[in-house]
This record gives sequence, C-alpha cells and structure tokens, in this order.
Amino acid sequence: MERHYIHFETPELATVVRDTPPTPGPEEVLIAVEHAGINRADLLQRLGLYPPPEDASPIPGLEVAGQIVALGERCSTLQVGDRVCALTHGGGYASHAIARGDHCLALPDSLSTEQGAALPEALLTVWYNVMGRGQLSAGETVLIHGGSSGIGSIGVQMATALGANVISTAGSAARCDAVTALGASFVANHREGNLTEQFTDAGYGGQVDVILDIAGGDLMQANLDLAAPDGRIVCIGVMRGMQSEINLATLFMKRLTLTGSTLRRLDTAERARCFAAIHEHIWPQVISGEIRPIVDSVYPLTEVLAAHEHMRLGTHFGKLVLECRSG
Ligand SMILES: NC(=O)c1ccc[n+]([C@@H]2O[C@H](COP(=O)([O-])OP(=O)(O)OC[C@H]3O[C@@H](n4cnc5c(N)ncnc54)[C@H](OP(=O)(O)O)[C@@H]3O)[C@@H](O)[C@H]2O)c1
Repeated sequence: MERHYIHFETPELATVVRDTPPTPGPEEVLIAVEHAGINRADLLQRLGLYPPPEDASPIPGLEVAGQIVALGERCSTLQVGDRVCALTHGGGYASHAIARGDHCLALPDSLSTEQGAALPEALLTVWYNVMGRGQLSAGETVLIHGGSSGIGSIGVQMATALGANVISTAGSAARCDAVTALGASFVANHREGNLTEQFTDAGYGGQVDVILDIAGGDLMQANLDLAAPDGRIVCIGVMRGMQSEINLATLFMKRLTLTGSTLRRLDTAERARCFAAIHEHIWPQVISGEIRPIVDSVYPLTEVLAAHEHMRLGTHFGKLVLECRSG
C-alpha cells in the first residue's frame, strides 16, 4: 500500500510526498481518506504560526472522511470497510490517515464523504465549547458569532436542534439571510453599524445566556454587554485580535463566566467523551438531515494552496474540503 500526503516545503510551496501508510496502534484505525476538511488552524500551521503539538503528526489536516482499511485490536466496535468521519491528530491532508477509534463517527449512507469531512471539527468544537463549557440548555438564548463560518454554520443548527433560541452574526446581508435559513432567529451584520446596538434594538441587550466568540478583539466588550446575568462567554478564535480592552466591572456585576479552549490541546479522553455525547445527542439529527454539513467548495488535494487562499479571503460559506484520493 502507498500513501501520498501534502508537505509544505515553504508556506507557498506544497509538494506531494509518497511513502508507506502508518500502522494503526491498538486503539487506532487507518482510514483511506476520500475527503479532508480544511480549518483556519491549517493555514496558520502552513505559515509556521501554529506548530502542531509534539505528539501530533506534522502532516496538516485535522478531520477526514473515508473507509477504514486497518484497525487495532482494541477497536472492537469498528470494522474494516466501515465508512467513517474522524478527527485526526494531524495527518489528514493525505490518502491515508490515522485516527483513534473513539474519535470516529460511522457515516450513514445519506452522507457523502465530502459532507462527512466537514463535520468532526465543527461538531466537537461546538459541543465542547457551547454545550460543555457554556452549559447551554434548551430555552436559553445563544449568540453564535460567525454563523457563516465552518464552525458557526454547524453551531447554529446544533443549538437550534437542542431547543435554544439562536442569534448570530455574519458579514453581509446575503450571508445574514443564509444564517437565518439555518435556524437563527436574528442575525446582525458585523460589517455594518454597531453590533451591540443591533442586538439591543432586537431586544437582546443583556439577555444572552451563552456566547460563542470566534473572533475576539473588540467583540469582547460587546459580548459582555449583551450577556445576561450568569451568562457564559466562550472565546475560541482571535480573527479580530488577541487583545481586548474590557470593563471588568461588567463581569462581576452580572456574575459572568469568560472561558475558552482549543480543540487541538484537548486530551484524547475528553475528545472521546465529546464523541460519545455527540453520538447520543446530535448524530441522530445528522442522520435524519435536520443538521446538515454545509460544503462550500471541494478542491483536489494538489490544489491545497488555492483552497487555503479561498479560506483566507473568507468568501466561503460553511466548509472547504479537499478531495484526497488522487495526488
Ligand atoms: N479553539 C478551537 O478549538 C477552534 C476550533 C475551530 C475553529 N476555531 C476558530 O474559530 C474561527 C472560525 O473557524 P472556521 O474554521 O469556522 O473558519 P471559517 O470557516 O474560515 O470562518 C471564518 C468566518 O469568520 C467571519 N469573519 C471574518 N472576519 C471577521 C471579523 N473581523 N469579525 C467577525 N467575523 C469575521 C467570516 O464570515 P463573515 O464574512 O460572514 O463574517 C468567515 O466566514 C477561527 O478563528 C478558528 O481559528 C477555533
């Protein structure tokens, strides 16, 4: 068996390297990758700004979908031939990738591998941060910033399916409409006017129980102002900046919780717990089509730089995916 994978010689030079696929450990599977999801972290890794953890594969790619072709003896619930989507510890931009058995979800026939590859990172990120750290419950109001993003487009649907009232942000009127179509009851255009005022005018000032912030920077004070008493704010990205000037009094006057996380640094057991919870609470809605992956475009693996440029420009809606069979 031969594997091909992407290696960034420099940030602007991607080559295809050939070798032998790795052998899965006792708790791992080897997946013949058909499609791999692209994430913002991959762009940062390519630029040398987000080195992978020491125990991770240096090959980029955090999520894949394909068919299991080999597995370790402790993966008793899986079989060779199963179609799965999975979170990888790096190594997804390849024809073959290793994943832990308990970091896989079996793909129903109704989902293609390009759709499957768009799911694991978004499902895990939203579950861990919104349902886990944010403790969102049915009937509460959640603000998911960037409803047009890979993370947000799934997050809006997950929170809606769990019975929350979802409000969101996006960067144009058309993108706001598209996020509304995913289930959000109100979407503010973050490129037009003042965000806090838009949400306050819609009746959400000081009323938001959970906020997923994908951009940071100047959004943070808006988050604090919009949060309800005992609200939970979870920051997972810094596209608007790593520094925020905030009024700390807002935190203690409303007893707010400000937290965050990064999926890459979450230990394998915690990820496995999230997969089990998603399998129980979210996967049935994915199988029924109530929650659907939004794939904007699919690029051949060899056009990975063009795909990354597409993401950098931010004109996509939902996810960008690589086709990995040929390379
Ligand atoms: N911590 C974690 O574990 C974790 C995991 C996954 C992702 N993330 C982070 O979450 C963020 C989204 O990731 P993704 O993969 O979903 O990315 P993505 O699909 O590229 O989405 C980014 C979206 O953010 C919006 N945006 C761009 N500039 C913005 C700004 N200045 N203010 C507000 N919104 C802006 C854009 O939509 P509009 O043009 O419609 O606004 C864009 O579609 C990234 O920052 C990523 O690093 C964190």
